[in-house]
Amino acid sequence: MSKTLVVYFSRTGEQYSVGEITEGNTKKLAEVIAKKTSGDLFEIKVVEDNYPNKYTPLIQFAKKEKQENARPAIVGTVRNIDEYDTIFIGYPNWWADMPMPVYTFLDNYDLSNKTVHHFCTHEGSGGVRHDGFALYGHIAQNSPFEMEKKVDEWLKRL
Ligand SMILES: Cc1cc2nc3c(=O)[nH]c(=O)nc-3n(C[C@H](O)[C@H](O)[C@H](O)COP(=O)(O)O)c2cc1C
Repeated sequence: MSKTLVVYFSRTGEQYSVGEITEGNTKKLAEVIAKKTSGDLFEIKVVEDNYPNKYTPLIQFAKKEKQENARPAIVGTVRNIDEYDTIFIGYPNWWADMPMPVYTFLDNYDLSNKTVHHFCTHEGSGGVRHDGFALYGHIAQNSPFEMEKKVDEWLKRL
């Protein structure tokens, strides 16, 4: 039987264009995808969460982490990863790249015999390749119906 896992990284606090948020843009999108695919959710969280809650310091922090090609340790593991044949992996676009904890996750698992789809939220430079999916963060945050419609369109294409 086909089983789906939706893995995501997402932040709260002050985010571009949406102000202070208590549920991350990518998290909202991940939840919709999980609902529509009957998937399980796994949130990538870092063990030592030093990410600033304000946008400008977060930008600087993330830039440094990317420059260092860091692999921050993440909390927990997906113990039953073998049971999933489809993995959705989502993240906010950070400096036209994935946040480094997403790299940690990808380093930790062999997903080579699985179907992997990726999605991101962004504020202008979505640019995903292949059959990935990009959505404005402020739409994920503030326009649930528009988000659902776009997710439906994407899932139909897959
Ligand atoms: C560190 C950092 C870097 C970002 N870099 C980009 C970028 O290069 N291009 C872009 O379109 N948006 C960029 N953004 C905006 C985020 O991708 C966008 O706000 C996203 O929806 C945040 O998702 P979250 O609430 O799930 O963390 C950046 C945001 C942060 C905090």
